[in-house]
Amino acid sequence: MHMKHSDEAHGPPVVPVKFVLEDPEGLTSTEQVEWDLMGGEGENLLELAVENGINIEHACGGVCACSTCHVYVEEGMDEVSESDEDEEDRVEEAPGLRIDSRLSCQCRIEGKGPITVRVPAWNRNAVKEVPH
Ligand code: FES
Repeated sequence: MHMKHSDEAHGPPVVPVKFVLEDPEGLTSTEQVEWDLMGGEGENLLELAVENGINIEHACGGVCACSTCHVYVEEGMDEVSESDEDEEDRVEEAPGLRIDSRLSCQCRIEGKGPITVRVPAWNRNAVKEVPH
């Protein structure tokens, strides 16, 4: 399923967000590990990544109904929206759960950054196990 782009307008791209990819080849078909992007206030991390060619899985289309868009917010947790109960319940299903685990589709940019997001290597593997 393709992500539905949010209809909500978001601010100008002035917030620095660095994505660190454990599997750059699988996510971008390149070998570039670190991606320095600029996000806008109100934009979610999944949307920002996908718009810039980082194909984080999002099996449910970004509606908090899977856990394939799981990432780690390693820096700037205060710069993104807090997780709600739905996200917390869902993210617990993700492999490799950590204290900084978030669902990137539920994580909106709220502050001025900087934000650093690590995309785990098994982001793609987890999806391959889902029957089609
Ligand atoms: S894409 Fe399914 S929960 Fe984020």
